[in-house]
Amino acid sequence: MGRIGRLPADLANQIAAGEVVERPASIVKELVENAIDAAARRIAVTLEYGGKRLVRVEDDGIGMDAEDARLSLERHATSKIRRPEDLAAIATLGFRGEALPSIASVSRFTLRTRSRGELAGTEIRVHAGTMASVTETGTPEGTRIDVEELFYNLPARRKFLKSDQAETAHASRTLTQLSLAVPSVGFTLTSGGRRLLDVPPVAGVAERLYQLYGEPEDLVRVEKEAAGIRITGYIARLAEQGPRRGPQNIFINGRIIKDRTIAHAIIDAYSVASIKERSPEVHLFIEMPLDAVDVNVHPTKAEVRFREGSLVHEIVRRAIGDALGRGPAPALTLTPPDIAQVAPGQSLLPGVVGGGFVHNRWMPPASGFGLPASGPDSVSGPQPYGGPKPEAGSPEPAGAAVTPSMRPLVPLGQFRDTFIIAVDDEGIAIVDQHVAHERVLFERAMERLTAGRLESQRLLTPLLLELPADARQALVNHAADLERLGFEVEEFGGDAVRLCATPALLDRESAESALRTLAQDLDGFDRGSGVDAALKQMAATIACHAAVKANDRLTYDKMVHILDELRATAYSTICPHGRPVMLRITRREVEKNFQRI
Ligand SMILES: Nc1ncnc2c1ncn2[C@@H]1O[C@H](COP(=O)(O)OP(=O)(O)OP(=O)(O)O)[C@@H](O)[C@H]1O
Ligand SMILES: [Mg+2]
Repeated sequence: MGRIGRLPADLANQIAAGEVVERPASIVKELVENAIDAAARRIAVTLEYGGKRLVRVEDDGIGMDAEDARLSLERHATSKIRRPEDLAAIATLGFRGEALPSIASVSRFTLRTRSRGELAGTEIRVHAGTMASVTETGTPEGTRIDVEELFYNLPARRKFLKSDQAETAHASRTLTQLSLAVPSVGFTLTSGGRRLLDVPPVAGVAERLYQLYGEPEDLVRVEKEAAGIRITGYIARLAEQGPRRGPQNIFINGRIIKDRTIAHAIIDAYSVASIKERSPEVHLFIEMPLDAVDVNVHPTKAEVRFREGSLVHEIVRRAIGDALGRGPAPALTLTPPDIAQVAPGQSLLPGVVGGGFVHNRWMPPASGFGLPASGPDSVSGPQPYGGPKPEAGSPEPAGAAVTPSMRPLVPLGQFRDTFIIAVDDEGIAIVDQHVAHERVLFERAMERLTAGRLESQRLLTPLLLELPADARQALVNHAADLERLGFEVEEFGGDAVRLCATPALLDRESAESALRTLAQDLDGFDRGSGVDAALKQMAATIACHAAVKANDRLTYDKMVHILDELRATAYSTICPHGRPVMLRITRREVEKNFQRI
């Protein structure tokens, strides 16, 4: 007799359930995805005891007639695909015809459903995969599914469930993500009689994010379209204390997924922009042709495969880079002097003092001030979502963003040899010359490093540096990284190391001071902490040492050069350490204070 036998259907379903149903949150995911596929406008989820006692999902979607209701519980029964070709372009969240029979095989399962326009509905009860009853019943249009006593027939799996609170939290996160994918659908989540989530239908993602997370001060909008791929969303902006950490929600064609390519593109984009990029909050909605992505590669459909992964990587990276670069410069508020306090005859002007504002020594001829006469709508600043919309007719949105890549700033001079004062159509900018230059150089260095190594220059006479033993050791340990940065360092004997080549960016003195700083920093990096982090830190140190300093007199050309370079960088408002590069006094602020508007 043969050794091989066919498994009975209920056992086959339980095995499939092992992949599909891990915990109550997986049931929420499958049932809510079905409701979304059924064009529901409102979806209500109820949990009892973290979903272990009950997960109920009710929707007002298209419902099923009696025959479909029966079929829906059979394995490989689906309305979503019919032919092999359909697999290549799946537009629905479901397509396997596995979820309902799997769930029903590991619970007490009740399906109530009525097709739109039908008079009677159907109720089907299934216990651990066995159909217990099918009856005609009165029920609202749409579908309601009760999943009770999850894993009651599989005690071993039941033991793996976490506490009620942990399971509730998990399910709540799942529903929150699902709700982001379809803002036009309203969701509620009730657990133990308490409302945990209540988001009515809204017009778009911005409103949904606002419902879920509140005021989004620290996020900027992403918008990019290229090669048939459209990316929208909101991401943590660069900030002094580092970009805000938070959830990373990535959707491909409305499906929430985890994907290494995209995660990598996110890290890439932030790492050029900031040294503090750990786990920034990111909500990205990526739309692409259905046949450019294979969704049939993972048991819970949590991963996908791209036909052209590197293209997706590049577009995501650029989308984020662009958005980060558009972060607004902090705006200054002017306090006008209190005129009433000034005695008659007393001047409001401070005494003209040397060393104060350096008068426009380098002022170019008047023709040099030909500012582009562009209207306010040519600027696309970051659009905060949910925030107050700019009033119609107001000349520019409040806190108008500078889009440095579009408007050249014209330098007027230096203030205290430390800040460049510049103007453009949007107002006045005060630029910290050191921080600005550091930002420019850091970005250049990071770009080169990603491509390979920094340019190095051989020293005619090598430099000898005396250093303490631990610092020498740190330099030797990191010789390979240092070489990528353009340093060639050897042990010289005694307390000294010999520096034979330096990064081309640095002159002799700054190379020496940079190397001393690096030796100290490197001591703190253990090798395991990731070479990338160390390299990036080193690039930041080199940029810092190569940049012009505070108290450096700058020529007009040098100022123009720094501002131009700044304009060309993607991230011009914050230095790699998170300090602001420039402050803004907006035109509006100036006009308001002179009572011109
Ligand atoms: N809430 C619902 N409203 C209307 N029809 C539903 C609903 N839930 C399920 N169905 C029908 O039952 C079928 C089976 O559902 P099931 O979730 O098992 O499979 P699927 O969604 O087609 O694929 P997958 O296993 O990938 O989820 C669906 O194809 C759909 O036609
Ligand atoms: Mg399904």
